[in-house]
Amino acid sequence: MTTVGIIGSGQIGMTVARLAVRAGHRVVLSNSRGPETLVGAVAELGAQATAAASVDAASAADIVVISVPVTAFGNLPVAALDGKTVIDTCNYGPERDGPIPELDDASITSSTLLQQRLPGAAVVKAFNSIFHKHLFALARPAGADDRSVIPIAGDSDAAKSAVTGLFDSIGYDTFDAGSLADSWRQETGTPVWGTPYGPYSDEQGASAGADAIRAALAAATR
Ligand SMILES: NC(=O)c1ccc[n+]([C@@H]2O[C@H](COP(=O)([O-])OP(=O)(O)OC[C@H]3O[C@@H](n4cnc5c(N)ncnc54)[C@H](OP(=O)(O)O)[C@@H]3O)[C@@H](O)[C@H]2O)c1
Repeated sequence: MTTVGIIGSGQIGMTVARLAVRAGHRVVLSNSRGPETLVGAVAELGAQATAAASVDAASAADIVVISVPVTAFGNLPVAALDGKTVIDTCNYGPERDGPIPELDDASITSSTLLQQRLPGAAVVKAFNSIFHKHLFALARPAGADDRSVIPIAGDSDAAKSAVTGLFDSIGYDTFDAGSLADSWRQETGTPVWGTPYGPYSDEQGASAGADAIRAALAAATR
């Protein structure tokens, strides 16, 4: 059993929490407003879930999911994330997050920015390229013919291995998309972002295997 800390318990954070609880893991939810605002979410998830301040969710976790607006990167509990495997689900959008020059000129990826803010953590970009309703609907047991694949990118092989193990338990295979510098290939608007899993209008989504994800990553341009 893994303890998954969730920093940002919104659409994606709660979807990961639901899948993790279903797979038998513990989750510790957090958000910007405090654990008292997550009473309903904890009640929905049941006895394997608790809520805490972000610093305590990070401290308690084996793996931490950061699922916040990029503008919140400056408010994360840096010390508590030292030594942790961190899953970065986040997408940058200047219309929502305001301009960030080093992202606008593509000199670094948004996951590299997060890694710079969390120097003691091992950041793995994942879940950023799948709509939350598809993430929930497409989970399948290991070995299922229609099991979907999710791209992951990071600089630590150990962290990518830990993330792959977690994903396997909650219903997904992973595809190694390279380093954090390579993760632009799965950022907003790229071919692998959303499209392989079908249109948002179909909440059940469409399964996407390794060949589809490999081809979509290879088709990315900038
Ligand atoms: N929605 C999707 O299908 C989807 C898919 C892939 C990737 N993403 C990306 O994943 C990230 C989260 O998206 P979302 O749609 O789940 O967003 P969301 O529903 O708006 O939830 C955002 C969460 O972040 C929390 N938060 C904000 N600032 C925080 C801070 N400083 N510390 C702790 N928690 C903080 C919010 O807490 P409060 O409510 O208390 O403020 C809220 O729980 C975004 O970067 C998004 O682009 C989303």
